[in-house]
Amino acid sequence: MENYRLTEPRYEEMKYRYCGKSGLMLSELSLGFWHNFGYSYTPDGKLMEERLPQDYNRCRDIVQCAFDNGITHFDLANNYGPPYGSAEECFGKILADGFAAHRDEITITTKAGYDMWPGPYGEWGSRKYLMASLNQSLKRMGLDYVDVFYSHRPDPRTPIEETMQALVDIVRAGKALYVGISNYPADMAAKAYDYLAAHDTPCILYQGKYNMMVRSHEADILPQCADRGVGYIAFSPLNQSLLTERYLNGISADSRMARSKFLDRERDLTPEYYQMMQQLQADANAQGLTIAQYALRWILQRPEVTSVIVGASSVDQLKQNLKAIKRDF
Ligand SMILES: NC(=O)c1ccc[n+]([C@@H]2O[C@H](COP(=O)([O-])OP(=O)(O)OC[C@H]3O[C@@H](n4cnc5c(N)ncnc54)[C@H](OP(=O)(O)O)[C@@H]3O)[C@@H](O)[C@H]2O)c1
Repeated sequence: MENYRLTEPRYEEMKYRYCGKSGLMLSELSLGFWHNFGYSYTPDGKLMEERLPQDYNRCRDIVQCAFDNGITHFDLANNYGPPYGSAEECFGKILADGFAAHRDEITITTKAGYDMWPGPYGEWGSRKYLMASLNQSLKRMGLDYVDVFYSHRPDPRTPIEETMQALVDIVRAGKALYVGISNYPADMAAKAYDYLAAHDTPCILYQGKYNMMVRSHEADILPQCADRGVGYIAFSPLNQSLLTERYLNGISADSRMARSKFLDRERDLTPEYYQMMQQLQADANAQGLTIAQYALRWILQRPEVTSVIVGASSVDQLKQNLKAIKRDF
């Protein structure tokens, strides 16, 4: 595309960390596609067709800003959107618009596990679902392979051996280079690591929710990753926007709080929250940082952490977040 120019240099100010004991490195900051890469809908659920070109341009600009600033890892899943599949479609379009020329400079991850299509084969951890879902993801993105394919959540009914063997076979078929797991409790993660290692397909990444407000993985998952040589990659590092200045002066209509069912003002914006934010803002500002920058740096202090996956609804937000990890900050 005429206006799609990727600039150089891009790697000087980013740091890269290994995924556990594997040879794959990721940028300390990764870009996530859960929100902000789907289509715009009216509050009563109607697709805003007139917004499609604008939505696409915004997504492409965020991806280009990420890559131009040394972010090499783009994290997707089958059901990111809305609607499900649209984030992968959007990323496929960005690749086709010129970004594919940089395929060997980037790491693309996708996942399957949550609800994707109706009926008994559209979610969880069966071989049937995982194989079909990855084939669909590859088609949407126009790819032959992804770099990492994840089992997105543990399945209490499918034998873990079946789920893990599907991951092994996916790698053997050349459809993914590596595998990872997400949201598994420690006992199931241990079984997954054992099975995968015994079948010459070591798990290289555990993707889990970790931020200043959600620290449960410090007790078990993080030490287990260190012990097993698995890289830990943190999602929702800003606790879905709560660890930013976003809600200090009300709730704007374009915020995740206003737009998404995953945040709830009654539950999340309590007096205790505002009290905590006041202290956090004072601590961050004392170091010349925004709350978001402070929260991202806090996670990256942990040696088990390979990368943090941020979401951004604008290029400006991403640029702000990048300042948290620039060498010369
Ligand atoms: N494995 C899993 O189960 C799982 C689950 C969740 C997420 N993930 C991955 O993790 C990624 C990140 O998750 P997330 O989107 O919840 O991450 P997050 O970084 O905690 O939250 C992103 C949101 O924070 C706000 N924000 C970001 N930078 C900001 C800034 N500088 N100033 C003010 N506000 C800022 C934006 O909210 P506004 O939209 O309000 O502007 C943005 O949409 C996902 O995209 C996905 O790839 C994985």
